[in-house]
Amino acid sequence: MNSIVAPSVLSCDFANIQQESNMLNESEADWFHLDVMDGVFVPNISFGLPIIKAFRGCTNKTLDVHAMIANPDDYVDDFKAVGTDILTVHLEACKHLHRTINAIKAAGMKAGVALNPHTPVAMLESIIHDIDLVLIMSVNPGFGGQSFIKSTYYKVKLATDLIKEKNADVIIEVDGGVNTQNAPKLRAAGAHALVAGSAVFKSENPQQTIKELKGVS
Ligand code: DX5
Ligand code: ZN
Repeated sequence: MNSIVAPSVLSCDFANIQQESNMLNESEADWFHLDVMDGVFVPNISFGLPIIKAFRGCTNKTLDVHAMIANPDDYVDDFKAVGTDILTVHLEACKHLHRTINAIKAAGMKAGVALNPHTPVAMLESIIHDIDLVLIMSVNPGFGGQSFIKSTYYKVKLATDLIKEKNADVIIEVDGGVNTQNAPKLRAAGAHALVAGSAVFKSENPQQTIKELKGVS
């Protein structure tokens, strides 16, 4: 099966959001992945609500927002208001994750949970039926352009097994260092959605790279 491809706009040219969006709109990309970083949960600051809103004005594709922020509960309605379709929060950032997931769904968005490389998949066991997506980080969050952590393949397999065992309906997304070399192996391990920043935006032919990431020959 082909992957859902979600280019991470963290690596795009922010002086040309409209042109970058047009390129993605005309490509086989499925989602726009937007990395919000607050300098607290992760050691970097990226962008926030106004930039999400700007992308919303440039595309009808799904906005897949990855919130790398402390206290995401405080901003659930704000994310919805600027056009977020999928809101993914970090398990490590939420004291009351079940409550946060319910708030995201009540606001009318799909709810995702992201796991840092050190967080076991087993932590999802009690909430697997409540979430729409699990985002498995294949780098430590905070920066684009890092190297893929190879133990991710096994983690994706564990997530696949857990979802099957519990008979749940959850998308497995992988984020960090994803490229055309590791994409087929991630697909084979059970990943449904692949995020790629540098692989897409530093490519000489981003639309062709998106096709290859998708598994379209
Ligand atoms: C990292 C972000 C990623 C990042 C991916 O914290 O969550 O989405 O933009 O960038 P690449 O594909 O360059 O690793
Ligand atoms: Zn991300």
